[in-house]
Amino acid sequence: MNNIDIIAGARPNFMKIGPIIHAIHAHNENSKHKIKYRLIHTGQHYDKKMSEDFFDQLNIPKPHINLGVGSGSQATQTANIMMRYEEAIQEWKPELCVVVGDVTSTMACAIVAKKEGVKVAHVEGGIRSGDENMPEEINRMVTDSITDYFFTTSQVANSNLQKLGHGVEKIFFVGNTMIDSLYANLSRLIQPDLWDQYNLKPKEYIVMTLHRPSNVDAMESLKKLLEIINTNSGSKKIVFPMHPRTRKMYDQLEMHFDNLIITGPMTYLEFIYLIKNALGVITDSGGITEETTVLKIPCLTLRNSTERPETITLGTNELVGTDANNILPYLEKLIKGKWKKGEIPELWDGKTAERIVNLITKL
Ligand code: UD1
Repeated sequence: MNNIDIIAGARPNFMKIGPIIHAIHAHNENSKHKIKYRLIHTGQHYDKKMSEDFFDQLNIPKPHINLGVGSGSQATQTANIMMRYEEAIQEWKPELCVVVGDVTSTMACAIVAKKEGVKVAHVEGGIRSGDENMPEEINRMVTDSITDYFFTTSQVANSNLQKLGHGVEKIFFVGNTMIDSLYANLSRLIQPDLWDQYNLKPKEYIVMTLHRPSNVDAMESLKKLLEIINTNSGSKKIVFPMHPRTRKMYDQLEMHFDNLIITGPMTYLEFIYLIKNALGVITDSGGITEETTVLKIPCLTLRNSTERPETITLGTNELVGTDANNILPYLEKLIKGKWKKGEIPELWDGKTAERIVNLITKL
């Protein structure tokens, strides 16, 4: 297939599409059969720090179209993306629509494409947490149910898809494009300004990110979590780049935590610099558990389930749960330097996007 739409909407999408676009450009330089593509940004994330900065740092070209949907409830966001992408797809009908990950933009655009008779490819298809309270799980289930070609990150994803009745001819185990971005940028990392400002030293601080509704939307549970982490991190400072959703609730707490270094969302190259040098990471993100696995940094996941089990069975990740009290033994192990050593999952080798583009040209 030579005419494709590539969809990106929210922060974790950008490091997944960047390598695919670069691989398309590399293919086009070396081949008579050029791939024509449109990069469509839905506008789900719109703050400079959540979007534009990632495009700049990852050398992703400006999107051909920005649907400009902005924030809203799950249904409002989904509906707006669908209405606006439907118009865009009628202007230039691609043969294939490539969606990545599990955000609302992924699902909304997959539905539109499929109904317009356009084939759907899902990068990171087949993963499941089993937790249907998370909007991402619904997005995964709906997207996969109408996907024509799955580009998967793990053998677990392959077997999930087969159990759901998808034929092996639709499933391509290619690895992880987020890890392509990680490897491609390791030599370009940027030390953030707060490094000197707070006199940070390698392996002497912890990085924390929280943005899941289950952790940040209820004031009491956020307060308890921050109190426990603040008082049990020993002499280690906790760098906490805050997602806008978390910031809204945090501001209402009107509290101060001595050990927390609170900052806004970080750019990609600064954030990876911070986690690469950290003693450990506390997070409720899925993507970060993949990055810490590859960088072999201890990771405590504040969730009850994961759709990325290989980060636990092979990698450096541990599932702590959402009850704040659970975290204590894990923090102790981390601070005493007794964390497990990890291995890097199969095909997370920095060459995934090249495999995907190769396959697309043969579909
Ligand atoms: C979305 C994804 C989640 C991903 C996360 C990474 C879904 C269902 N969730 O969650 O999987 O891990 O992105 O960040 O798609 N906001 C801003 N500026 C922005 C974007 C958001 O201020 O640029 C605020 C808005 O108040 C908005 C809230 O953050 O209402 C949540 O944004 P939304 O895109 O709905 O979901 P995320 O929580 O970011």
